[in-house]
Amino acid sequence: MNYRVPRTRKEIFETLIKGLQRLEYRGYDSAGVAIDGNNHEVKERHIQLVKKRGKVKALDEELYKQDSMDLKVEFETHFGIAHTRWATHGVPSAVNSHPQRSDKGNEFVVIHNGIITNYKDLRKFLESKGYEFESETDTETIAKLIKYVFDNRETEDITFSTLVERVIQQLEGAFALVFKSVHYPGEAVATRRGSPLLIGVRSEYKLSTEQIPILYRTCTLENVKNICKTRMKRLDSSACLHAVGDKAVEFFFASDASAIIEHTNRVIFLEDDDIAAVADGKLSIHRVKRSASDDPSRAIQTLQMELQQIMKGNFSAFMQKEIFEQPESVFNTMRGRVNFETNTVLLGGLKDHLKEIRRRRRLIVIGCGTSYHAAVATRQVLEELTELPVMVELASDFLDRNTPVFRDDVCFFISQSGETADTLLALRYCKDRGALTVGVTNTVGSSISRETDCGVHINAGPEIGVASTKAYTSQFISLVMFGLMMSEDRISLQNRRQEIIRGLRSLPELIKEVLSLEEKIHDSALELYTQRSLLVMGRGYNYATCLEGALKIKEITYMHSEGILAGELKHGPLALIDKQMPVIMVIMKDPCFAKCQNALQQVTARQGRPIILCSKDDTESSKFAYKTIELPHTVDCLQGILSVIPLQLLSFHLAVLRGYDVDFPRNLAKSVTVE
Ligand code: G6P
Repeated sequence: MNYRVPRTRKEIFETLIKGLQRLEYRGYDSAGVAIDGNNHEVKERHIQLVKKRGKVKALDEELYKQDSMDLKVEFETHFGIAHTRWATHGVPSAVNSHPQRSDKGNEFVVIHNGIITNYKDLRKFLESKGYEFESETDTETIAKLIKYVFDNRETEDITFSTLVERVIQQLEGAFALVFKSVHYPGEAVATRRGSPLLIGVRSEYKLSTEQIPILYRTCTLENVKNICKTRMKRLDSSACLHAVGDKAVEFFFASDASAIIEHTNRVIFLEDDDIAAVADGKLSIHRVKRSASDDPSRAIQTLQMELQQIMKGNFSAFMQKEIFEQPESVFNTMRGRVNFETNTVLLGGLKDHLKEIRRRRRLIVIGCGTSYHAAVATRQVLEELTELPVMVELASDFLDRNTPVFRDDVCFFISQSGETADTLLALRYCKDRGALTVGVTNTVGSSISRETDCGVHINAGPEIGVASTKAYTSQFISLVMFGLMMSEDRISLQNRRQEIIRGLRSLPELIKEVLSLEEKIHDSALELYTQRSLLVMGRGYNYATCLEGALKIKEITYMHSEGILAGELKHGPLALIDKQMPVIMVIMKDPCFAKCQNALQQVTARQGRPIILCSKDDTESSKFAYKTIELPHTVDCLQGILSVIPLQLLSFHLAVLRGYDVDFPRNLAKSVTVE
């Protein structure tokens, strides 16, 4: 939204479309925008909606086909909204995409991330009042509900944010919402509960404040019928942000900083139930209830993220770029934390809680997808270094089982985005039961990092490719660092600690060595890319490598792939083995080496022809291999960081050879903010 910054309609389109493109990596199936149809000066206003199934590019083309829209017309104040949708209710289609509208006249339009769980009841109520629905979405109920509240207002001068406040009191579920209305030209209102939302602020002039005080209002509302009985207090200037001297200012509402970082790195993270409104160039935030953090203000923070960090560079896909970034991302995870001279590790976000963690009786490590695999990969070393029982859990299953959690548990929540709904719900579940909660995320200001008692930022830099790569290796290292920090005073573990810390030090160089195998891995991809299935087998420290490798293959190549625990081979999977079935075996020089040799014999005895990922000095395995990919050797518990990289590269090349869009795999999203 721009205030006193003249912008042509073309510039407004470009800003909105660019923002959507920056979020494309999240995965979506349709997109839409709402902008003012007429010039600001024209009394008879209307909102123009343009929506399209498919890519943002298709929407962009569609915008320029609208003859009613003069591209050169200038707006001194303008508020446009745009959205990419990933279907939760209703098929991907233009009518189901956002913005959703209140009526055919587009009086109120809204964009929404999340899910409204009571939308059926609301829809029934609104239908009984004569509102006609056009889409199958939960979001449309929000657009209709705000019109209902508006139509039944008790006073003419009701503010836009009061309407929104009344609407969200009727909503159950998760949402980040941004509203636009013909009744409030040049005004914006946004709010969230459970889904992320931030506001970027750009002004060439000094801002009136760096901290926006929250306005609280008491308002008891029982149902939609009597929701029009409270009035909005007028905002005083101490409770809002504007450019000093009534100068130009632009506000950007977004679910993710990457959408706006090219305009500004000054952002405010909203908390659940905050209602942010911009009117007359002033931003104010109010709430009905005290916030969970009890912070009476929201600070403007400066993000360190650079635009080029989120660009593709010379690589053909973000995923490829991110795989090749691992020598640096891994280093950044350890930077300033591991002291290689004194063999000590200091994680700033945990140091004040260390004593308390040491007193607890059990660690539960929870995540989804790749983040869960990072927990599996480090379980053994965590058990060894913390001398505590460690459970690893998939967030959804953990919740399904109503898993018993106690006050003397420490629960870790691993999440690249920090927004995954299942993980976030598991966090709230554990918090309610009194456990100490620790977040391990890649996103500062994310819900998980804010709601946990303490945490570690993995510092891997923005990850754009839907298939996670560098976040995995950084999560892995973060958990190992935690184990090292916990064991600092254990005399019996000192040699082991030193060995691991030495291993960490050499990792960036060894990762470079693994990356130099790309051509060889590409050759294997050439042999495999027409296959339908690919099995990946291993055990011990490398079982997680197999799970993660198979997940990468499934996600982006759409081949059937399974990560198999080699110890379980004889209990079922062996039946799959024959001359044709492609098999990859991960066999490293670690305590499971001899057992892996047994598995190798079992496979070759059934005429299997395995490609073996093995240590450079392993002469034994290569005798039975169809092909080997030889990796540098490191400490057993860190080997998984090196062994996963060939599988990341293999999945990438398989997907390219099969002709798929590596960064945007079908049906998947980067950040799954629904249960
Ligand atoms: C989605 C992504 C996966 C990711 C998982 C967990 O399914 O497609 O790549 O591993 O979510 O995401 P998180 O952000 O919590 O690590």
